[in-house]
Amino acid sequence: MNVDVLLGLQWGDEGKGKIVDVLTPQYDVVARFQGGPNAGHTIEFENKKFVLHTIPSGIFNPDAINLIGNGVIIDPLILRREMTKLLDSGTQVGANLYISRKAHLILPTHRLLDAAYEHAKGAQKIGSTLKGIGPTYTDKISRNGLRVGDIASVNFRKRYDELKSRHLQIVEMIDFDFSDHLIDGLPFDVYEQQWMEALNGLAKLQLVDGEYFIHKMARSGKRILAEGAQGSLLDIDFGSYPFVTSSNTTIAGVCSGLGISPQMISRVIGIFKAYCTRVGSGPFPTELFDETGALLRSKGNEFGSTTGRARRCGWLDLPALQYAIMLNGVTELVMMKADVMDELEHIKVATGYRHKGELIDYLPFEACLEALEPVYDILPGWQHSIQTGNGIQEVPAAFESYIQYIEAKVETPVTIVSTGPDRSQTWYRKA
Ligand code: GDP
Ligand code: IMO
Ligand code: MG
Repeated sequence: MNVDVLLGLQWGDEGKGKIVDVLTPQYDVVARFQGGPNAGHTIEFENKKFVLHTIPSGIFNPDAINLIGNGVIIDPLILRREMTKLLDSGTQVGANLYISRKAHLILPTHRLLDAAYEHAKGAQKIGSTLKGIGPTYTDKISRNGLRVGDIASVNFRKRYDELKSRHLQIVEMIDFDFSDHLIDGLPFDVYEQQWMEALNGLAKLQLVDGEYFIHKMARSGKRILAEGAQGSLLDIDFGSYPFVTSSNTTIAGVCSGLGISPQMISRVIGIFKAYCTRVGSGPFPTELFDETGALLRSKGNEFGSTTGRARRCGWLDLPALQYAIMLNGVTELVMMKADVMDELEHIKVATGYRHKGELIDYLPFEACLEALEPVYDILPGWQHSIQTGNGIQEVPAAFESYIQYIEAKVETPVTIVSTGPDRSQTWYRKA
């Protein structure tokens, strides 16, 4: 029972990085279990700001061990850039970072394929981060992928070349001309060359059999926090398919992505924004296209941590939140970014949808495909700043009512409230 899980309950960017960093002093090990550099986890403290893509958010606590689990997919070049940035800022990253040999590699041609598939979809595109996520997980499932542990094998280069040429055949078949296509601003050949150099660097890091590693930690009494990426509504099975990512972002991903059993999991900490955002395409029932949506975006600084794209903003969606709580067995909630709504006179919360002439309070299959018409409760805003350092001393009554309203609706306690991006702007509500 040594493993607690923290995962996102909406469409990602809930603030997972901040809260993992805040909670890390309570743990010995922080482990990422799925996703890849499509993630962008922001951590702010002492006037410094970091965005992590592959490295777990426990890295800023020098006593914590960080594990990149087998369920994660790794782009060696993105990892190298991330490590360089951390090292340049004086953050210790080396002895405290372990990587599962079973984690799959994102090849430069996976990123080409991602771009080619999106290009072919035209207006129907997913809005992928173009980090090669879908194609890499596709190769994993179709048993063609290359793993971190393979780098050491004598035939690695041969397997790499075979996979690359298969990818290039597909790119050609889709008729995607990549001669002018840049990956992170670099022509393909340059990216590939830097990728190869980074691959050599990756091979020198602490590679482990992650499943044995984590069990050894658990047996010796170490406390482990599993850090989710993306959010439950982007889950490959339960999200708004096909507008999803390519991994299980929900609780099952913890077991398959680290090699642990469900019995080892204790707390399931679900994190949500006090409103909703989504980046990329796909249904978003409570999306706002008016000035309130624009206010949430500008005050909440709702621009993608990985791609810089403007995030779509809307009201809190309770049936969707309840769905995510159900899927994950959430034991407690963390509410983020309510400070962004400080000045609003009224706050809407969706409690159901009108669907085929009926009022429903669940997400029907059609929610993946078509717009649902939300039905709202309207609550009074608190119109008071809740954004203070070191927790909030005085809780406006309307704010407390907003939290209690949500707790009652989803029958789950809100134990932590975040009132600003900084580590210190965190309020522990209940023990
Ligand atoms: P993650 O992917 O779940 O880690 O979230 P992101 O880092 O992509 O996005 C969350 C954004 O909100 C980041 O810019 C954070 O610095 C910021 N943030 C986190 N918590 C709060 C909060 O309580 N209030 C405000 N205003 N910003 C927050
Ligand atoms: P974190 O961990 C928000 C979205 C993309 C796109 C869809 C598929 O920071 O919360 P992909 O690149 O996975 O093929 O994109 O999923 N997406 C995210 N949105 N936060 C993320 O991660 C995301 N990772 C992927 O925008 O709509
Ligand atoms: Mg993010």
